[in-house]
Amino acid sequence: MPRRPIDNAIDIPAQLCDDLQLDPAIQPSAPLAEQWDDPTAVFLTGATGFLGAYLVQELMARTGATVYYLSRQATPQEATDRLVQQLRGYQVWQDEFLARLVPVLGDLAQPRLGLSESDFAELAGRVQVLYHNGSWVNNVHDYARLKPTNVNGTHELVRLAALRQTKPLHFISSMAIFFSAAHPPTTPIGEDAVPGYSHTLRSGYTLSKWVADHLMQAAQERGLPVAIYRPVRVGGHSQTGVSKVGQDGSFDLLNALIKGSVELGLYPELDVEIPLVPVDYVSSSVVHLASQQNSWGKAFHLVNRRPMHWAELYDLLCRSGYRLEKISYGEWLRAVKRRAASLPPRSSFAVLHLLLTTPNNLQVQRPPFVTEQIEECLSGSGIVCPPLDGALMGRYLSYFQQIGYLPPISPKQS
Ligand SMILES: NC(=O)c1ccc[n+]([C@@H]2O[C@H](COP(=O)([O-])OP(=O)(O)OC[C@H]3O[C@@H](n4cnc5c(N)ncnc54)[C@H](OP(=O)(O)O)[C@@H]3O)[C@@H](O)[C@H]2O)c1
Repeated sequence: MPRRPIDNAIDIPAQLCDDLQLDPAIQPSAPLAEQWDDPTAVFLTGATGFLGAYLVQELMARTGATVYYLSRQATPQEATDRLVQQLRGYQVWQDEFLARLVPVLGDLAQPRLGLSESDFAELAGRVQVLYHNGSWVNNVHDYARLKPTNVNGTHELVRLAALRQTKPLHFISSMAIFFSAAHPPTTPIGEDAVPGYSHTLRSGYTLSKWVADHLMQAAQERGLPVAIYRPVRVGGHSQTGVSKVGQDGSFDLLNALIKGSVELGLYPELDVEIPLVPVDYVSSSVVHLASQQNSWGKAFHLVNRRPMHWAELYDLLCRSGYRLEKISYGEWLRAVKRRAASLPPRSSFAVLHLLLTTPNNLQVQRPPFVTEQIEECLSGSGIVCPPLDGALMGRYLSYFQQIGYLPPISPKQS
């Protein structure tokens, strides 16, 4: 069935229109990869990232496949070292994984992922399923800077999916592509909705994910077996609390905001909800849904039916023993700026201030998201998104204290 047109397509700048075109040479003419449903070899991008680490863990646990992973490191040894270091940091590493992990040295931003024509074709013939999770997650850079990695890289994954054997392709998109004037906050968004265009798409990063998502929809329309997964903010592990807290330069705005508030002793008053899904809910859903042919041609919304209100987080922090004075968001932002000015230029306060003063989704009004399709496809699997309640947020706060990201509660404070 042909795709419905993009709302407000008339407003799309010419350059973006070009980027939305999938190479006509990419066709699903090759036979379907044998054993795609019980693969011996899969390809994963972004294995060293936060979600990627948990996808590796999930692929190790739920499949018998060898995981070929894209790495920007210069040598196989450096690739292995980085992966092991990252997975250890996220507390998922097991030595047994090593025998089933094979680095593919390359770069999403390069044609054919930086591989020679023969290596690209060899990879295409070897792996039976593709997981495209890698992305330059950066809310500061503009679209032009992020496009080679986030858009062109996605195009190359679609090319790989169609080469030599047709391979199911599982793409991690983002719910943020709907956070714009194209989707009023009152209109529910179904999983078959076409993400509309608006110049209010919030950042170069969101725009790059919006284009990449459309490329994947174009691949679906062309007949390739593609599934799209759109999570909201990906938060820490639901059991261990392990979270993305700036290891390796990565930065999570919500976690940084909690840390900044505690360190300032000041809490910004906001009338917003925190719509977070635990990373293990995302990784287990993706790997489970990837085993079903029913997922092809679909998009899935990974959202939390029970988000936490900003005021609830304040109560929880206070109950945990932190002394926080509530102030207006404007005053709080000025306090962050003052603290940043008193510290070295690359301090966490400086980064926090930069992220808060560039487009972000902190205060965005989110439309309600329909999740019928994912619920139906996950039914019977036992995989459900846990509510973001005091118990779960408490696990995140404990982890932050355990690793020294948040200061311990001093006896004076408690
Ligand atoms: N985190 C969220 O809240 C959230 C929400 C919605 C959707 N998502 C999506 O979920 C996916 C994972 O996000 P994340 O938070 O786990 O990201 P992350 O921690 O920043 O990890 C990004 C990964 O992409 C890799 N990468 C970046 N540029 C690359 C390039 N040019 N070539 C090859 N690999 C490259 C990184 O590899 P290196 O080790 O080389 O840096 C890293 O493994 C992304 O697609 C993101 O858009 C995330």
